[in-house]
Amino acid sequence: MSRYFMTELAVRQCETSVPDSRRLMAENAIRKQIARCSPQAGKYSGPVLVMSEERLRQNVRSFMAAMPRVRPHFAVKANPDAEILRIFKEEGTYFEIASIAELDAMLELGVDIETVFYSNPIKSPAAIKHAAVHGVVWFAVDTPEEIIKIAAIKQDAKLYLRIEVSNEGSAWPLAGKFGASATGVDALIEMAKKQAVQIAGVTFHVGSQCTNVNNWVEGIRSAKRIFEKLHDNGFAPELLNLGGGYPLQFTGDEPTIDEIALEINEALLSIPDSIQIMAEPGRYFVGSAGCLISQVVGLATRDDQRWLYLDTGVYGGLMELAEGFPSIMVSQRTGEAEIWTIAGPTCDSIDVLGKYSLPRNTEVEDLIFIPNLGAYCTPCASTFNGFPAPRMTMVG
Ligand SMILES: Cc1ncc(COP(=O)(O)O)c(C=O)c1O
Repeated sequence: MSRYFMTELAVRQCETSVPDSRRLMAENAIRKQIARCSPQAGKYSGPVLVMSEERLRQNVRSFMAAMPRVRPHFAVKANPDAEILRIFKEEGTYFEIASIAELDAMLELGVDIETVFYSNPIKSPAAIKHAAVHGVVWFAVDTPEEIIKIAAIKQDAKLYLRIEVSNEGSAWPLAGKFGASATGVDALIEMAKKQAVQIAGVTFHVGSQCTNVNNWVEGIRSAKRIFEKLHDNGFAPELLNLGGGYPLQFTGDEPTIDEIALEINEALLSIPDSIQIMAEPGRYFVGSAGCLISQVVGLATRDDQRWLYLDTGVYGGLMELAEGFPSIMVSQRTGEAEIWTIAGPTCDSIDVLGKYSLPRNTEVEDLIFIPNLGAYCTPCASTFNGFPAPRMTMVG
């Protein structure tokens, strides 16, 4: 990265009062992500996500070391790139899917399909059939209607109940759309009995980029109560799925995987050994392995506001940024900073990413680095308005 001098690392863009040691650790990890971009930056030819194989492997290993009792199933949606899936398979990861295409990726990868979990609570009959034909056994449900659908196609499926848990403290909450309430769980149990299908487990999702460890602890407590209820109703639960949500480090204020594990491991002591524990990390496995390089295509002053237009935006994989997800932008240029309104290149007025501090002397064609984008960036990108979606490239 010798040719590129970053502005003072923009971690301060995410308001923070964390101790220096934690902040520095987060900053150093981000500097490393940007440094890995050097060869690609030198031959820039359009937005590119630079993904580090070393970091992918390290993320899996950190997770497994922190929670030895928890079997990770990578949430394929976070980044379904075939090379990433291959690396995770090599590292001993299992997988979680949400669609026919994700199941097909598993078939292509050659994993044991019985170990693949279908965690999307709403599946089309065609998707259930496709999964059943290829040997998927485990299906998530959170409504009686879904139980009827699955029972008609795969009577011997193993169902796991997605229950509602607090998503407080998560940057990207998932509560509301999914998760059965306490009365919802009763209705699910009744329907499963009526349809003579097996409820074999419980799952929850604490929300993505979750910084509130208590959400997992409370989720485990709720699952324990539901296990008792399942036993009382003649079921034999054998699975607890802790879902995703494990956060990336932006400011150092976020709990580390070891800190989260301390609480989760402790809470799991109350769960009998006969229960298989698993989780579905998505963002944590891929997010910190990917740094996006983008380029400034235009600058503008509108009244007293400075606008900076990038060559990718909301339609090019940066949807989360527009929704206020924590993020950092770093320029290749140094100089006194000012606040810019950052926008994408399309003609749509929703293609605005928010306000960031970048050098006042920014020029068209400067490169901008956006770290921690290995998850939910390239898989969400389109070529709307004819602008190329960021491509992904793997480095060591
Ligand atoms: C069912 C399910 N599992 C796991 C994940 C992965 O979550 P995260 O990327 O926050 O780890 C998601 C994300 O939407 C999900 O819907």
